[in-house]
Formats: sequence, structure tokens, C-alpha cells
Amino acid sequence: MYQFDIAAGTKAELYRDLHQALDALTAGEPDAVANMANAAALVWQYLPDLNWAGFYRLVEGELVLGPFQGKAACIRIPLGRGVCGTAAAERRTQVVADVNAFAGHIACDADSASELVVPIVAGDRLVGVLDLDSPTPNRFDAEDAAGCEALAALLASRI
Ligand code: SME
Repeated sequence: MYQFDIAAGTKAELYRDLHQALDALTAGEPDAVANMANAAALVWQYLPDLNWAGFYRLVEGELVLGPFQGKAACIRIPLGRGVCGTAAAERRTQVVADVNAFAGHIACDADSASELVVPIVAGDRLVGVLDLDSPTPNRFDAEDAAGCEALAALLASRI
């Protein structure tokens, strides 16, 4: 059984502790699926107000669903499509306050109101994206983006 000491204090503390826990969970484990599965579980358990948390992996030029928590989701997303495909194509984090205002947003769960997608890049290779959805509009801010970018950077060489 794993036990984590995750602070319920400031957002900065929460992301610092999550990073530490994810590092401990994935260190020395070479299996990408295991590491993504545990990362999705950790984020799902400790980040409040999410309805979906997980990964899309770059497979033969398109994004393919990876380990996640939440409702069953769309399986394949072309680069440049939706929030995930945009983050992947531009290799830039997307913070979307209102998914209905994002042209081309792909609705996998009607409950989703806002979304954060972080590209995962190892060296110059795009590995995939980390995708978080929330039922609350404007759920994600710059601190969430920075915190999730740090998690993605940690995972990049472990998935
Ligand atoms: N909303 C995403 C699709 C993935 S789901 O949110 C899990 C998008 O527009 O790319």
C-alpha cells in the first residue's frame, strides 16, 4: 500500500507534494503504462474538482487514449484537433476556462466545463499530453498549469 503526505494547504504546496509523490511512485519503474496509470490515479485523488484526468499518447502521428480516471473517453484525436490536439500540435499548454467557447473542443463528457492540457515532451520528442477536465468553469489557473507542467516534465522520460 502506498501512503502519501500530500498537503492540503496552498496550491503550491499541493503541487510540490504531488511532484514528490509521483517521483517516488515512478522512480526506477520502466513500464510506461504503469507509470501513467499511477500518475492518473494520484492526480485524480488529490487534485480537487476534476471529472477526468489522464493521458493521450502520440502513436503513429495521432493522439491515442492512455491510462485515465473518469468516464470512458474518445479514443483517437488528430493533431491540431480539440484542446488535446492543439496542445500537442503547438507543444503549448492550453488553459481553457470555458470549453464551449473553444472552437473544436471535443466533448467526451458533457459535465466538462473547463480543461487543462499539458504537452509531454522528452528532449525534442512529443510523447503525448496530460489532460485534466473539471465540471467547474475556470477551474484551472497559471499555478495549475505550472504544477502540471512540472509533473509532465518528470514523467516525460518515464513513459
Ligand atoms: N476535450 C478534449 C478531448 C479529451 S476529453 O476531455 C477526455 C479535447 O477537446 O481535446
